Amino acid sequence: DDATRAAAPAGCPAAEAAPELFTWEFASDPYPAYAWLREHAPVHRTALPSGVEAWLVTRYTEARQALADARLSKNPVHHSEAAHGKGKVGIPGERSANLMTHLLNIDPPDHTRLRRLVSKAFTPRRVAAFAPRVQELTDRLIDDMIAKQGGAECGAADLIHEFAFPLPIYAICDLLGVPREDQDDFRDWAGMMIRHGGGPRGGVARSVKKMRGYLAELIHRKRESLGETAEADEDLISGLIRASDHGEHLTENEAAAMAFILLFAGFETTVNLIGNGIYALLRHPAQRELLQKSIAAGDTELLTTGIEELLRYDGPVELATWRFATKELTLGGQTIAEGDPVLVVLAAADRDPARFAEPDVLDLTRRDNQHLGYGHGIHYCLGAPLARLEGQTALATLLTRLPDIRLAAEPDDLRWRGGLIMRGLRSLPVEFTPE
Ligand code: HEM
Repeated sequence: DDATRAAAPAGCPAAEAAPELFTWEFASDPYPAYAWLREHAPVHRTALPSGVEAWLVTRYTEARQALADARLSKNPVHHSEAAHGKGKVGIPGERSANLMTHLLNIDPPDHTRLRRLVSKAFTPRRVAAFAPRVQELTDRLIDDMIAKQGGAECGAADLIHEFAFPLPIYAICDLLGVPREDQDDFRDWAGMMIRHGGGPRGGVARSVKKMRGYLAELIHRKRESLGETAEADEDLISGLIRASDHGEHLTENEAAAMAFILLFAGFETTVNLIGNGIYALLRHPAQRELLQKSIAAGDTELLTTGIEELLRYDGPVELATWRFATKELTLGGQTIAEGDPVLVVLAAADRDPARFAEPDVLDLTRRDNQHLGYGHGIHYCLGAPLARLEGQTALATLLTRLPDIRLAAEPDDLRWRGGLIMRGLRSLPVEFTPE
């Protein structure tokens, strides 16, 4: 505590040793380690499991500052180790310069141009018009879970595998305009990516390659038939092809990279929003009951603030994606050398007691909630309106249709996926009374 630290001779290292990061124990509950870092080493250089050394930024103020700092580039060529072939960053299995040229890997002015073009196609209006389809998909997945119980009195399911995982993949495929008959291929490829995200690379690389090939062909086909559909009825890929800015269009390669990043950025994140969100509710019965009552009363206010709180409390993106110092800079009193990677720990910043009252308490009514779960600055999540729509629909429908849904495992027995950037459960066994 403060008194002990004040009494320690100047220059003495902190009494406690830094906690071990990236172990299995850490993966299941990283929050105590992050609390330690926030207090003792808020900008902390550490070796990642890949061997690459990076700075972890854990306090809210510095996290927000770093996310908006133009000296921190998203382009891996600024990373000294990556540039020399030692570091491994980016999408597993993805080496193609074409697909790597997407929003999360580029800086202005390219980023500004591409983001403006995609924003013309991926509008809040397009997302709002998609609401009935998300509802239909959600209901279908719940119907399937109920049908599978074969009349048993007590139903059981793995909510990740049977619900949180398929919903976003079908939703994003539909939105992009991937024909229904091909969507199960995407489900398989995405399943490979999510299961082996931090593990063996071979299958992941093959899945990425297949997805890339498929998208390139689909974009080509859609470009050929663009004149045949009315603009108002068209899908997002056609919208991307058509979008123009001062007469400029996306090239086919840019459109493919964009479609790929929408899938990649919009898929596992949403799986985790639903998975982590439901898990947090099942572990906080009073909060869950409050939400269930308000949904039953047709009130959407608590659902709206509640989704934001679930994002803050245990969000899908634990660390923001890679950033690299383009020149020497100072952050939180630490000097960061040119070329050093910087990882902003969103999960730590969003539990910072200097920013949030009682940060470790889940409070669905929280209003002062400027969390960083969707990032901040020019790379702020482009898909936030879609994520909110899917999250709200999934949670409200589950709690309405399976009102007695409950956890069917001890929290200590649950396993979290081991990836560096994302935070999500491998599986979430639940029980319920089928309608
Ligand atoms: C960027 C979170 C869902 C598309 C980001 C970033 C975060 C984030 C933290 C910024 C990363 C950084 O600065 O390093 C989330 C969360 C989601 C979610 C928590 C779900 C709950 C989606 C969906 C889509 C999407 C559904 C699209 C379908 C994107 C894109 C970017 C992005 C394209 C890059 C934007 C840019 O660089 O300009 N997201 N996301 N996200 N997200 Fe999301």
